[in-house]
Amino acid sequence: MTTCKLQGTIVNNQFIQKKGTLKERASAVVQAVVTRDKFKVKVPTLTTTYTPLPILPLIEKAKEIIVETENTNSAGKFGRFGGKFIPETLAELATTLRDYVGRETPLYHAQRLSEYYKNKNGGIGPDIYIKREDLNHTGSHKMNNALAQAMIAKRIGLKSVVTATGSGQHGLATASACAKLGLQCTVFMAAKDMERQSSNVEVVDGCFKDASSEAFRCWVGDLENSYHLTGSAVGPHPCPTMVREFQSVIGKETRKQALEKWNGKPDVIVACVGTGSNALGMFHEFIYDTDVRLVGVEAAGLGLESGRLSSTLVKGDVGVYHGAISYLLQDDDGQIINPHSIAAGMEYPGVSPELSFLKESGRAEFCVATDEEALDAYERLCKLEGIYPSLEAAHSFAILDKLVPTLPNDKSKVVVNCSGRGDKDAPIVFDRRILHA
Ligand SMILES: Cc1ncc(COP(=O)(O)O)c(C=O)c1O
Repeated sequence: MTTCKLQGTIVNNQFIQKKGTLKERASAVVQAVVTRDKFKVKVPTLTTTYTPLPILPLIEKAKEIIVETENTNSAGKFGRFGGKFIPETLAELATTLRDYVGRETPLYHAQRLSEYYKNKNGGIGPDIYIKREDLNHTGSHKMNNALAQAMIAKRIGLKSVVTATGSGQHGLATASACAKLGLQCTVFMAAKDMERQSSNVEVVDGCFKDASSEAFRCWVGDLENSYHLTGSAVGPHPCPTMVREFQSVIGKETRKQALEKWNGKPDVIVACVGTGSNALGMFHEFIYDTDVRLVGVEAAGLGLESGRLSSTLVKGDVGVYHGAISYLLQDDDGQIINPHSIAAGMEYPGVSPELSFLKESGRAEFCVATDEEALDAYERLCKLEGIYPSLEAAHSFAILDKLVPTLPNDKSKVVVNCSGRGDKDAPIVFDRRILHA
């Protein structure tokens, strides 16, 4: 029955609405579904063809029903070619992103922040827009990917999901998506990252990289039943591509919203880089628009020369970690250096292989913000816009101080991705900026 319903939504309704009585139209669809193995069904005014599609990446066979009239093929068919194919999983995903996650997220014109930088820069400064990923259900961009992968886990018949989280945002998103879909969920989180207790979190010594390793171990012990749901754009293929693909909704929406708001594209896009999932989600759509500057901001922790940092692309070398080649923080013997950042989600010694490639090809620029600069940016956004970003996202706002003076004119449009909301970080900011000021 579920299949019938899903197929019904894929039918090109245009033709069903135009031709035949209601009963005939309904019967065309039902017969097409019921007799799909026979391939073709004739009803008085319609020829209904059912065509299974060859395997699509990541998704089980998509199904299509194409309705053609006797004298037209304007369903986009050329003989047996063409048509309109939509994988069932994507149709479900789009609806759930809208109704459960709350997409699309706004592209907000931050007027007071823009004024602040104009005043600082001799009256010249860009219009700054904020992509509000912090407004997603559970408070970050992590939900885009967690939901999509949890749907895959369910679709392939697995009962439980294992994952690791640094900032807690991916863990929260995964736990919520699993609850919604009736899947069991185990989240690994490093003890030092755990600011809140949660009944379904397994505590691990070390930091996010250790929680990630522990999640891999747990998953490998129960491959039959469990799904490893990565929230990071790292690890072996196809994980980085899959995560980027599910996050690319951010950039796609941004392109559409920029067109609506100023009838153009952003001149500069800024995103923080922990492992790279929110940055790639933003950048991917614009990679071939070479007039759009792509700026990734890594965490410089206590400073680039301090040895206590997470600036993998800016300071690291190439190596293999967690199953793929990318830039890494490693010593001369190839041993991993423990990363540091005030933002738990930025603390990872590797980085997305796709971002490593964008660095080497020169298509994207990478720079850094320190812990203190991120704290300043957090406070600034709270005071000027009443938006409190996660400390991870605060790194991308911090870079505006250095970026704005490099922009050619007053007309520039800068979009900053606010990857998550900052209530989880309020105690840290309070401690650093008020208690110990
Ligand atoms: C809100 C938020 N932003 C950014 C990041 C960094 O991760 P990524 O670079 O994969 O987007 C995290 C990681 O946990 C996060 O929680």
